[in-house]
This record gives sequence, structure tokens and C-alpha cells, in this order.
Amino acid sequence: MLSAAPPLRTALLVASVRPERLGSTVAAWAHERLDAHGGFEVDVVDLADVTLPAAHDGSGDTDAFRARLAAADAFVVVTPEYNHGYPGYLKIAIDSALAEWEGKPLAFVSYGGLAGGTRAVEQLRQVFAELQVVTVREAVAFPGVWDRFGPDGCLVDPARHEAAAKSMLDQLQWWGRTLRTARRADPAA
Ligand SMILES: Cc1cc2nc3c(=O)[nH]c(=O)nc-3n(C[C@H](O)[C@H](O)[C@H](O)COP(=O)(O)O)c2cc1C
Repeated sequence: MLSAAPPLRTALLVASVRPERLGSTVAAWAHERLDAHGGFEVDVVDLADVTLPAAHDGSGDTDAFRARLAAADAFVVVTPEYNHGYPGYLKIAIDSALAEWEGKPLAFVSYGGLAGGTRAVEQLRQVFAELQVVTVREAVAFPGVWDRFGPDGCLVDPARHEAAAKSMLDQLQWWGRTLRTARRADPAA
């Protein structure tokens, strides 16, 4: 039965690497929602702490990064929007692995100005489709992110976003458990 399933190992990727980023605040909130939901075992993969060469020559932290993705049954990507796209370093990270992504589900928490990072997310859905990642339909977006969190890092108006997070994580859990079972039965995606 699904409810008796072991926790879903989930890599929470923090895509912004700017020193003055809001990404850590948004990621801390996402981590809190994963813990509150139950059923997820979270590994925070902060790209600011990971050295991945654009040359994709396997140097730097590539092996360790790939091992962390390989250990995950599901992913959550916390991404901002820069110039109507997603951060360049996130693309380097995505391209640094292959099989480690495949046959697993992924959920988005995005943020930015007017569109709340949704343009970045729509582009990422195309990229992850190529890697046979199932991106779940529900997502959380924070438009005008500067006004969403107080100085204590807490959401000013939590109810709406918490409901969206619950729906998104329900979908991520369903896909995560289902695909974990499927990969064990037949690892070839
Ligand atoms: C170079 C740059 C480009 C940006 N372009 C957009 C954009 O196209 N759309 C948008 O909604 N917000 C845009 N923003 C606002 C960011 O989404 C916002 O500053 C967010 O906090 C950035 O995430 P970070 O602080 O974690 O790096 C841009 C910010 C920067 C620094």
C-alpha cells in the first residue's frame, strides 16, 4: 500500500548562486513544507556549494553531485527567473548528469517579479522532458518575491502558498513512489 512506503529521498536543488540571493529564503520555506508534508527525506543540494565545470569534463564536484542525484527518488527545483529564463548555472548542473535524472519526478518552486518565475519553469519542463523526468503539474510560484517574506524569513501570507505546496507535494509523492517501484521492477527507462 502506498501509505506504508518508505520515505522518498528527495534532492532539493537551490538554483540561484548569487551572494545576495533570495533563493536561500525560498529554499528554506520549501524544505520546511517537505518536512511538514511527511514522507520525504530531504538532501539540500545548494548549487552555490557545488563546483561544476561548463566544459562538462567531469572535474570539480561532478562525481559527488551525480551521486547525490543518483541517490534521489524525486527532485524539487527552487529557481528564480533571470531575463525570462532560468539561471545559466542550473543548466550546467542539469547537463552534468544523465541517467541520474531519468525516470524520476520533479516539482518546481519558482520566484521572481511579475510572472513569479513561471517562464523559467515552462522552459525547464522542456529541458527535463529530454531527460525523461516527469515534471509534476502543480507548482508553487512567488511573484513579487521581495514582498512575500518577512525579515524573519517567514511568509507574510502563508495560507495560499501552503495549499499549493501541499497539492504539489502530493503529486510528487505519488509519482515518486510509483516510479521508484517501476524502476526497481525494470531499471531501463
Ligand atoms: C539578472 C537578473 C535578471 C532578472 N530578470 C527577471 C525577469 O526576467 N523576470 C522576473 O520576473 N524577474 C527577474 N529578475 C528578478 C529576480 O527574479 C529576483 O531578483 C530574484 O530574487 C532572483 O533570485 P535570487 O535573488 O535568488 O538570485 C531578474 C533579476 C536579475 C538579477
